[in-house]
Parts: sequence; structure tokens; C-alpha cells
Amino acid sequence: MNKKFSLYLLIVLIAIMVITSHASVISQRNAFRTPEKIKETARFKAKHERNLENEKRSKHKIYSRNIVVEPILSQMNPNLNFPIGRFLINLGNGSVLQCTASVINTTNGNIGLTSAHCLTKDDGTTFDLKDLSFSPGYDNQQEGPLGTINIENLAVPYTHLVDPDVKDYALVKFAFTDPNKGNARLQDYTGALGWRFDIGNNTLTNVFGYPASGDMVNCTKDGKHLCVWQGNVQKDNNYYFIDDVNLGSGASGSPLIFQYNRNEHLGYVYAAHEAYVDETDESIAPIWDEQIFLGLLLKLS
Ligand SMILES: *[C@@H]1O[C@H](CO)[C@@H](O)[C@H](O)[C@H]1NC(C)=O
Ligand SMILES: *[C@@H]1O[C@H](CO)[C@@H](O)[C@H](O)[C@H]1NC(C)=O
Ligand SMILES: *[C@@H]1O[C@H](CO)[C@@H](O)[C@H](O)[C@H]1NC(C)=O
Ligand SMILES: *[C@@H]1O[C@H](CO)[C@@H](O)[C@H](O)[C@H]1NC(C)=O
Repeated sequence: MNKKFSLYLLIVLIAIMVITSHASVISQRNAFRTPEKIKETARFKAKHERNLENEKRSKHKIYSRNIVVEPILSQMNPNLNFPIGRFLINLGNGSVLQCTASVINTTNGNIGLTSAHCLTKDDGTTFDLKDLSFSPGYDNQQEGPLGTINIENLAVPYTHLVDPDVKDYALVKFAFTDPNKGNARLQDYTGALGWRFDIGNNTLTNVFGYPASGDMVNCTKDGKHLCVWQGNVQKDNNYYFIDDVNLGSGASGSPLIFQYNRNEHLGYVYAAHEAYVDETDESIAPIWDEQIFLGLLLKLS
């Protein structure tokens, strides 16, 4: 019953141009990074094997804890939460890879969620931190309300580094400095998604991302517009999945959100989108292992 299929990883490659004359109107940190053109060159992962034996074994795993962390409003402006943003990986050769990331509610206040494959190279090593950046609230502007934020640390499941087909979720720590010279953390500005591990089959879900292709409706699929998909998400033993939907390249890391509140722009994230699977025509997001997830958080706290 083992079935081979390929994962269409939802990263977008963007060509960038160097800005020299307009540097004054954009932040210095981001002066070199203006996405100009998006190419449909998402990576193709051939021969991913979904092992049904392992799936059966993990089915009966009982978690000792089932933590639920509440979402939290922005402290700066409770009516304006923007925890989701564009996550860019500068390849250093004039191209940028693009994913989606989101700020999650933590005691630390500067922690974000994305896909592990957005942080790792093909050889299993992680990208240089200086090449990673996040722009929360980005939606087809030059940059989001807080500009572009650097990454100071990241935590990827060890097993993902060994086998890129497993545990494709990760956390990053933002190198955030309060633009108002105070001690505010990123989530004090953006608000932050709650998170939980207890979401079951057929759960009404909102997924937000910056696709450059795919099936999201009412969406300008240029990798610059924040788009949303809403519907029921199913669950098998290793993955949450959305049947007959390709969320699109650039949606890697997109948060799957339970009880999304459209006034607050918040809810509970319970998975991060990984890939579109050609053969089965479904978008998949791995189920988090609670102990591993908490271990990632501990590493960054
Ligand atoms: C930069 O490198 C990536 C990965 O090796 C490649 O796919 C891309 O085409 C390169 N971009 C340019 C502009 O050469
Ligand atoms: C998350 O936000 C709530 C408020 O909604 C707060 O009470 C709680 O301590 C926060 N959780 C963490 C882990 O910081
Ligand atoms: C898309 O936009 C149209 C026009 O605004 C609206 O009628 C329709 O309900 C929207 N569809 C979805 C799925 O949001
Ligand atoms: C999840 O729900 C779908 C649709 O109702 C159903 O076909 C499927 O068997 C369910 N999966 C599990 C693991 O219960």
C-alpha cells in the first residue's frame, strides 16, 4: 500500500532588483529587496514516501498534555492585529525564495511559525540567518507596517534535518527592536495567534498566505497579496489535508487557523502548510508532535 508521490513545495522564487535611487523612501534594512517578478519555480520533491505503517503506529499515541495557548491582541493597537507576514529567503544571487510565517503568542513575544523547508537548503543545512526576513502585515505594499524584521535564531526539528520529508514545521526568533525605543516585543505590535494541538477531523479552517499560483479564490496570485482560503480540513494520522485544493506556491508555512475571528484577525493556529501533492490533489500540513513543538519553543525562549 505504500504510495510514492511527489511534494510540490510551495516556495516561490522571486527575481529582485537592486534599488539605488529610491533608497530614501524605504527602510535601510530592506533597501536592496524589492520583489519585481515572480517565477513559478517552486521546488519539486520527487519520491516522497508516505509510510502507512508508521502512520498506523502513531495513531494510538496519547499525549500527556494538550496545551492550548490563547491568541493575544496587539498591546499598541488592539484593533489592529497583523500577525501574518511574508517570509523571504535571500539566495544571494539576485533571487529570493518566498514563504509565509506568523507570530504566535509566547512569553518571549518574538516567536514565529513557518515551514522547516523554508529555513533549510537542499543539503540539509539551514540558511544563514542574515538571509532571512519577515514582514508582518505585508499586503502588496513596499513593506508591512513594521518594515522588514531580521531573524536572530531558528529551531528546526532534528529529524527534519535528517529526512526533509518529515516534521516540516519550525519556529524562528525575530530580531525585533521596538521602533518607539521602548521594550515592546513584536507580538505587542502585531498581536499573535493562539496555538493548540487538539484539532480533529473536518474542522472549519482559515488559511492565509501569499500564493503566486493555485486555487485560492478572490486572490491576486502574484505572491504579494495576502489571500485566504476557508473550508473544512481533514485529518489522517500524519497530516491535515485539504482535498482538491492547491493552496499555491508561496503558501509554504501558511497558518491553518481554527476559530479565526475576522474582526480581530486572530485565532488558533494548529498547523503550517507544507506542500501540494500532485498525485492525490491535496494540500497537506503535518500534524505537530507536541513534545517536539515545545522543544523548539524552549530552544528559542
Ligand atoms: C539563484 O539560485 C537559485 C538556486 O540555486 C536558482 O534557482 C536561481 O535561478 C538563481 N537565480 C539567478 C538569478 O541566477
Ligand atoms: C497568550 O495570551 C494570553 C492572553 O490572551 C495570556 O494570558 C497568555 O499568558 C499568553 N500565553 C503565553 C504563552 O504567553
Ligand atoms: C469572491 O468575491 C465575490 C465578489 O466580491 C463574492 O461574491 C464571493 O462571495 C467571493 N467568494 C469567496 C469564496 O469569498
Ligand atoms: C474525516 O472526515 C471525512 C469526511 O467526513 C471522512 O471521509 C474520513 O473518513 C474522516 N477521517 C477520519 C480519520 O476519521
